[in-house]
Amino acid sequence: MKSSILISFCLVFLCSCQELPIEEYAVIPQPAEIAYTPGFVKLKSQPVVAYPSELANEAQLLQSYLSSDFSVGAVLNEGGGKADITLQLDPTVLPDKKEGYVLDAISGKVMIKANSPAGILNGVQTLRQVIKEKDGKLMVQKAIVTDYPAFSWRAFMLDEGRYFKGKEVVKQLLDEMADLKMNVFHWHLTNDQGWRIEIKKYPKLTEIGAFRDSSEINHFGSDVYDGKRHGGFYTQEDLKEIVDYAAKRHITIVPEVSMPGHASAAIASYPWLGTSGKQIKVPGKFGVHYEVFNVADPDVMKFLDEVTDEVIAIFPGSVFHIGGDEVKYDQWKNSPAIRAYMTKHNLKTPAELQVYFTNEISNMLAVKGKRMMGWNEITGDKLHEYQSDADTEGVKQELASGTIVHFWKGDTALIRKTIEKGYDVVNSYHEYTYLDYSYESIPMEKAYSFNPVPEGLTDDQKSKVLGLGCQMWGEFIPTVESMNLKVYPRLAAYAETGWTDASNKDYQRFLDKLNSFLQKWKTEGITCGPVQ
Ligand code: ACM
Repeated sequence: MKSSILISFCLVFLCSCQELPIEEYAVIPQPAEIAYTPGFVKLKSQPVVAYPSELANEAQLLQSYLSSDFSVGAVLNEGGGKADITLQLDPTVLPDKKEGYVLDAISGKVMIKANSPAGILNGVQTLRQVIKEKDGKLMVQKAIVTDYPAFSWRAFMLDEGRYFKGKEVVKQLLDEMADLKMNVFHWHLTNDQGWRIEIKKYPKLTEIGAFRDSSEINHFGSDVYDGKRHGGFYTQEDLKEIVDYAAKRHITIVPEVSMPGHASAAIASYPWLGTSGKQIKVPGKFGVHYEVFNVADPDVMKFLDEVTDEVIAIFPGSVFHIGGDEVKYDQWKNSPAIRAYMTKHNLKTPAELQVYFTNEISNMLAVKGKRMMGWNEITGDKLHEYQSDADTEGVKQELASGTIVHFWKGDTALIRKTIEKGYDVVNSYHEYTYLDYSYESIPMEKAYSFNPVPEGLTDDQKSKVLGLGCQMWGEFIPTVESMNLKVYPRLAAYAETGWTDASNKDYQRFLDKLNSFLQKWKTEGITCGPVQ
């Protein structure tokens, strides 16, 4: 090419660059880096998607998203070749960033590369959000996105111990989580007011424990009841179907089976599990109950061993959540069998007994290849006014190393102390992340402002904070509508907080981006709570 032609070609190119304004991407959660180039990639009306066989699941999801979002029928081309959108596994792409991806849309085509299928799906989620319809054509502003999460643990918790919601509701939640690149579904499946997992060896857990005669309404302590039977549970087949649905969306399910407290539904099913030995009914009253497992009884430990076996056979993830929160110690203190057990094992306080019991469960789970997680009561620290100082003083038992401590209550000093002792922590501090709290107490801006990493940690200590959870507790949330009002739009704030580095967060920009999600949720029939 003659140099004069080359120069005029460059000038034309430069001029056209200046004429084309950049249409910035509005993606939630905000990607780590976006480098724009003027111009658009135009997608064909039936775009071809090329991918290797290992990415068939991600390609099928992309196809279904293009169909639901844009009524476009993409053509799948397994094995590669010429394509409008190419999905490609490449171990050299962001090799130290699990779940990261590069979306390259500058060459006239779209290429999503990642070192794992999870990363590819994250790139697909970004692509969905940057495709725009212009004059009936689908376009993507040219750019390269290089993106990866700030935290490896980006969780949403659903409490169905209180109100059973069912399979289709859970699937929709998993879809919404995947759209927002959230990767842990923490499923709170047992509590005082309901046991929701079929356990074949102990059928009464669901025959009796999954149903209650009446539910407290209005607010904690109202003592007003609706007089309506409520219940439901998941068969093991249902649960496997949901595990598979989540896995396809690269979401790990962490099941929570509460022990030794929040166990009334189990104790109502099998009274010998309880410390009092009394026959109780599945309570309809919300709040913290007195019933607690008799951890001194080998049959109770055998029960927990067998229940965890069945639960583990359903949920392939590496983490098992044992609850451990809000244990009232009265029944233990009044039980001669528990007192004798404490003397035998040189346990001075009920909090120490709880740590001892928790470690036994931790060992039991470790043998089965699982890592234990529990709410931060499991450290033996005093968190509640109903615990006396004497209940929790001088706990000498050390919680098993390797435990994930799920921080929800206490001050920053407590979370720092837990990290200094070497535990990994997921931060679900209630004042910022409890979705059952009203929008007056946790408005969007407060939800968005949450930083799971407390101030004053060294870099090593910061790496012990795995991430955050947001929790949809179920008391007084009887319907899907009441749940949706609490979950949306705050879910998006927690998603961005989990994915986007704190230094790259911007509340005003987040609000601007939220419009497309508000529109999407409306189309899906989800009624949201207030944005501001
Ligand atoms: C909790 O809110 N009881 C963990």
